[in-house]
Amino acid sequence: MLEKTITPINNNSQKKLFIKTYGCQMNVYDSAVMANLLKPHGYSLVTDFPEADLVILNTCHIREKASEKVYSELGRIRQAKEEQKAKGRSMLICVAGCVAQAEGEEIIKRAPFVDIVVGSQSYHELPTLLEQVRRQKKWAINIDFPENSKFDHLPSPSEQQSASVFLSIQEGCDKFCHFCVVPYTRGAEYSRPVAEIYREAIKLVSLGAKEITLLGQNVTGYHGDNGYGGTWNIAKLLKQLAKIDGLQRLRYTTSHPREIDDELISLHGSEEKLMPFLHLPVQSGSDAILKAMNRKHDRAHYLQVIKNLRAARPDMAFSSDFIVGYPGETEADFADTMDLVAQVNYAQCFSFKYSQRPGTPAAALANQVNEEIKADRLQRLQELLTKQQNEFNANSVGKTIEVLFDKPGKMTNQYQGKTPYLQTVNVISDSNLIGKTVSIKITKALRNTLVGELCDDKL
Ligand code: 5AD
Ligand code: SF4
Repeated sequence: MLEKTITPINNNSQKKLFIKTYGCQMNVYDSAVMANLLKPHGYSLVTDFPEADLVILNTCHIREKASEKVYSELGRIRQAKEEQKAKGRSMLICVAGCVAQAEGEEIIKRAPFVDIVVGSQSYHELPTLLEQVRRQKKWAINIDFPENSKFDHLPSPSEQQSASVFLSIQEGCDKFCHFCVVPYTRGAEYSRPVAEIYREAIKLVSLGAKEITLLGQNVTGYHGDNGYGGTWNIAKLLKQLAKIDGLQRLRYTTSHPREIDDELISLHGSEEKLMPFLHLPVQSGSDAILKAMNRKHDRAHYLQVIKNLRAARPDMAFSSDFIVGYPGETEADFADTMDLVAQVNYAQCFSFKYSQRPGTPAAALANQVNEEIKADRLQRLQELLTKQQNEFNANSVGKTIEVLFDKPGKMTNQYQGKTPYLQTVNVISDSNLIGKTVSIKITKALRNTLVGELCDDKL
């Protein structure tokens, strides 16, 4: 058992909380929930760590060297902690999220100045862990996968919301793709009950949200308790949420191609609030690689789903995730990926070189692809994806598009919003556009953003 003593927690009632978030939207969401959870305990968010009373690193384990990055960041924070100590103040350091889940006590062994290690399924226990550290003057850890959902313990939102918000409906994954750590770090699939999600959505809308993105590792696997002894799938949930007055836009992410069923496809055709843009990861265009990856869908199925969605909603656009250089990937397999990209014609995508994640089946395979080949394939794939993204954006120029504004831009009187396709649009306006959905004439397409102007000056 590791033992260590720490200086007592500062007693001032207003404490500074710094959270650094790594990785996916799920982590961004979790960080916001942690901040909300700690607010009643006197913590308010600050933007830098040197003077924080509590520093949380909300970590991601999906990429190679993720834990090494966390240890080097911890080194920097340790310095600040020592400087604070020299001034007679204390700083608590907490490692949360997927690296915490995967490494557990190893973190305390390698970085004994860390006070709390909390996994992604148990961060609702943070106040208890903080209290434990305070009372016992030693580090505390909780990386359990509790039987009861953490959502039962988390406070519901209470403050003015941004126009566009995330709502977590599902967590974990049972798919076990052979390259992926998520089933190990986030645990089995869990769906929140329908009533709980519906209540939270109404609350978010009453607090100013206009667009809700349903969030989860596998939202299309949603099977939440409907309160009548059965379960609802995501299509039924979306249909119900679409009835909320004042809610203008609905999205969901991330989906699995095998779970996009006819009910969901036809909802895309009939429900105006459901945005015509879907992130639908394919990972590879080669059947041999998809099989080796244990993706549970093949190329033909994926292309058919895309075709059916476009038939239901002709203005539908797509994004995806790709991995190049998966063990055993040949030049012919890669050519299949390039061909699939050419067929789908994506609006925007994420693409990665395969990286070995310890503990996953693919990491142990002997036929790893060498780094140079991976880099070369990634470059060729990204060239094609960037070309498609540029064409998609250029195609918006001259069109009038509904943009939902949710933040100020960098320039005076500039506002930033999103099109139905999640393209960022910057517009200059004398009146405040935040929280409004406005018709915007797109005048220019830059590399990652669009520029537009108001169609109606009398806003
Ligand atoms: N190597 C490279 N990319 C990966 N991803 C997940 N695991 C790995 C890995 N071991 C990518 C997948 C996934 C996205 C979130 O991250 O494309 O969809
Ligand atoms: Fe990972 Fe596959 Fe689950 Fe996505 S579906 S989270 S890639 S195991």
